[in-house]
Formats: sequence, structure tokens, C-alpha cells
Amino acid sequence: MMTNVAVNGIRLNVVDEGQGTPVLFVHGFPLSHDMWRGQLQLADRYRLIVPDLRGFGDSEVVPGKTTMTQLADDCAALLDAMHVRDRVVLCGLSMGGYVAMQFVKRHAERLRGLVLVDTRAAADTPEARETRLKMADHVRRHGNAAVAEAMVPKLFGKATFAEKPDLVTDLRSTIENTHPDGLAAAQLGMAEREDVRAYLPSITTPTLVVVGREDAISPVDEMRAVAEAIPAAKFHIIELAGHMSPLERPDEFNRVLVDFVDQC
Ligand code: MLT
Repeated sequence: MMTNVAVNGIRLNVVDEGQGTPVLFVHGFPLSHDMWRGQLQLADRYRLIVPDLRGFGDSEVVPGKTTMTQLADDCAALLDAMHVRDRVVLCGLSMGGYVAMQFVKRHAERLRGLVLVDTRAAADTPEARETRLKMADHVRRHGNAAVAEAMVPKLFGKATFAEKPDLVTDLRSTIENTHPDGLAAAQLGMAEREDVRAYLPSITTPTLVVVGREDAISPVDEMRAVAEAIPAAKFHIIELAGHMSPLERPDEFNRVLVDFVDQC
């Protein structure tokens, strides 16, 4: 069921499917809830809560700057608005992982498990920050075509480009259809996100870290270091996948996720 929920003064579009342990999926940049389409089959086991973050998909666009803490607080407020009292498993990919790390810092009592997928704990380098600021300015003036052009080649593994061209086309069109103000606001927020590496050892929430073997944005070694820094985190590499591992290899991703959620 697709629904519209009032959260922190704006409206968020959210998919709410199934029953049981709630699992909240937080998408990457500049995407939407649709990147979790391969996980919707898990609605026969869990309650799946899959929002479009502010500025993305069919949720309200708020121009300016969208910080990762704001997005984490939106997720907590969304659970309140949906009367989800049970502790949730929070699963975030890339930007969704930045949000998940802020969520665990701010709302750990609401979590039974944390799944960090193809993401990073480090802050941006000054060069990366500069690139984001330029991109934010560019999309506001010229639209998203250049962002799609720059990002799509980095998002998938080789096998996906060769065997699943429809996924690539779909993702490109999601990026092209994202509102430029929403995209720019999240870029500005990511540019100033916190380096959370020093915080990782204090995470006590059961954690699973998943990465695609060919991830060009959050490489395997960096994700392994994240897993090693979090006490008792599990670590899984998905072969033949890049940055979008849940979308590229949903069967394997779901198997690993189900194993983890059932233990939480
Ligand atoms: C994402 O997939 O969410 C982005 O690659 C995150 C980022 O730009 O750092």
C-alpha cells in the first residue's frame, strides 16, 4: 500500500506492506523507494516501510539544504506518525546509510538491527565536497541530465550492465526525474555530513554490513573497515554486484537480510 504521511511539517510518500517485524528501508541518492523493489517480496515475512525521503520520489520537496540528521529525524517521526511502536530493523544504502548512522546516534532505542549497505562512514574530502557544491549549483540551473550521465556508470557492476540493461535505464530515469531542488538540497547536506568513524565502536545495535564486490563508490575494503570497527558486526560481500547490490542481486541480498533480521 502506498500512503502519504505528514512528517515534520511536510508530506512523505511511503510504501507500507506486510506484517511482522518492521523493516525500514532508506534509499540512496538521488533515487527513491523504487530502488528497493527487489525486497518487496519480503512482505510475506515482515512489515516493510519504504519511504521516499524529503525531496525525492513523490515526497515533498524542500529547497535549501537537507542534512543527514534531518533525514534521520524524518525517519523517526515517520515511525511515530505510522504508530510503529515495535523496534525496527533499519536498512540504508549509501546516502541511506549516512542517514542510518545518524539514526543510530540519535534514536538507537528504536532499533533492533542496523543494516549498512554500500555506504561510507568517512566524511567527504575537500575535493568531493567541492564537486557536490558545483553539482548542486549546476542542477538548479540546468537540470539533472549531467548528474545522471556522471553517476550511472558508477552505480552497477559489469554483469548488471551486460545482463540487466532495464535496471540501468530505470535508474537513469529515476535520477532524471528527481526534482533538481531536492537533489541539490541533499548534495549540500551530504557535503557537510559528519565523519562517524570514531563513533562506530560504540554501536551496540546488532549490525550487518553488505557491499557489492565491484562497488566503485563505497569500496569493499572501506566497508570491511566499517564492519570491523562495529563490535560484532557481520560482513557480507555480494559477488557480481556494484553499488546497487540489493537491486542487482536481490535473491542473495534478501537471503542475507532474512538471516540477519530473523536473528535480531
Ligand atoms: C548514493 O548512492 O546515495 C550516493 O552515491 C551517495 C553519495 O553521493 O555519497
